[in-house]
Amino acid sequence: MSGDLASRFRALWDEIAPVGRDAGSGGYLRYALTEPERELRAWFRSQAQRRGLPVTEDGNGNLFAHWGEPEGSDAVLTGSHFDSVPHGGAYDGPLGIVSAFLAVDELRAAGVAPDRPLVLAAFVEEEGARFGVPCLGSRLLTGALAADRAAGLRDAAGVSFAEALGGPPAGARPDLLGRFGAFVELHVEQGRALVDADAPVGVASAIWPHGRWRFDVVGEGNHAGTTRMADRRDPMLTYAFTVLAANKEARLRGAHATVGRVSVEPNATNAIPSKVTGWLDARAADPETLSGLVDAVRGKLAERARRDGTEVTVTEESVTPLVAFDGGLAKRLATLLDAPVLPTGAGHDAGVLAAHLPTAMLFVRNPTGVSHSPAEAARDADCAAGVRALARALEELTCR
Ligand code: GLV
Ligand code: MN
Ligand code: MN
Repeated sequence: MSGDLASRFRALWDEIAPVGRDAGSGGYLRYALTEPERELRAWFRSQAQRRGLPVTEDGNGNLFAHWGEPEGSDAVLTGSHFDSVPHGGAYDGPLGIVSAFLAVDELRAAGVAPDRPLVLAAFVEEEGARFGVPCLGSRLLTGALAADRAAGLRDAAGVSFAEALGGPPAGARPDLLGRFGAFVELHVEQGRALVDADAPVGVASAIWPHGRWRFDVVGEGNHAGTTRMADRRDPMLTYAFTVLAANKEARLRGAHATVGRVSVEPNATNAIPSKVTGWLDARAADPETLSGLVDAVRGKLAERARRDGTEVTVTEESVTPLVAFDGGLAKRLATLLDAPVLPTGAGHDAGVLAAHLPTAMLFVRNPTGVSHSPAEAARDADCAAGVRALARALEELTCR
């Protein structure tokens, strides 16, 4: 191996940096199973091949590279996802996969021969940016989402997940899941806790419960110039009130509510809309606060719809329960790495897998604290510290 770890990180990182990057925003458009994400999946295969790690796929779109017997049990899993939110940052997801390959290199250079197989993973559709349900690949693998429901999820162009995958997903794979004894996902931090703690790497304690609710508001499309104000049934008003109400209700509870996506029909400047669809993303530290928040927003939405003469339908698209990561494992890794322990409001495949096997997450400091935006950042030196931490964690878990 040549150069220091930070330079080796940069060299590998630069191989994928241009893939799916939007020249205008500087952010990434790497939606699951679209061309840029497929290019990254091919890159995963080539990196695995370069290291002599056979690659398997689970019939759900998740990729696995095996160091050790692919059929072996008690394997330690590490990895993350390649897909992005619209105009997302570079690090959310790919950092965990690039770091996994570099951690293998570090272990090999140090002469470490794992007693348990080590498996590197690239999970499909973690963000839910294309098919609406986050952590789709890990939910399928674990059986948290039924294969037929996933198969029928459609993207904005009407393409189903099954079509994008090239066939119906396999669904739950207990045979495969049962071979894993632990999972460690390394991820860029999506806040400023590590900046405040002056630490390059942290260990996760928990993920807030969170979910997505779509609200369709139907009114009456009509002329903007000739329809008297009193005669309107304008769904935009119901939508706008709901956005403000969600913000207020979240603040009242110390929770988080976001409406970051909206669709308007017919979307014309001089027409009252006939329909507005919004997506509420709600998160809270505990499930009671989350359900209280969502109930309150539903109540405000229904009340306002009555006043506007609109009709509303609310559809729960996904809900992820509170995830408390394995406390013993988090403490063990925090001691090993001398790293702070912190909770997060962001969802991860680790949160889904935590219901099935001992799972931990490592976070790498993000100097901007910004994520799901092109402003997301991580320094090469901190990424190198992340690789070292991951390699130590994997050595701890794979060597008896
Ligand atoms: C995943 O990034 C999420 O939305 O929490
Ligand atoms: Mn994300
Ligand atoms: Mn992520």
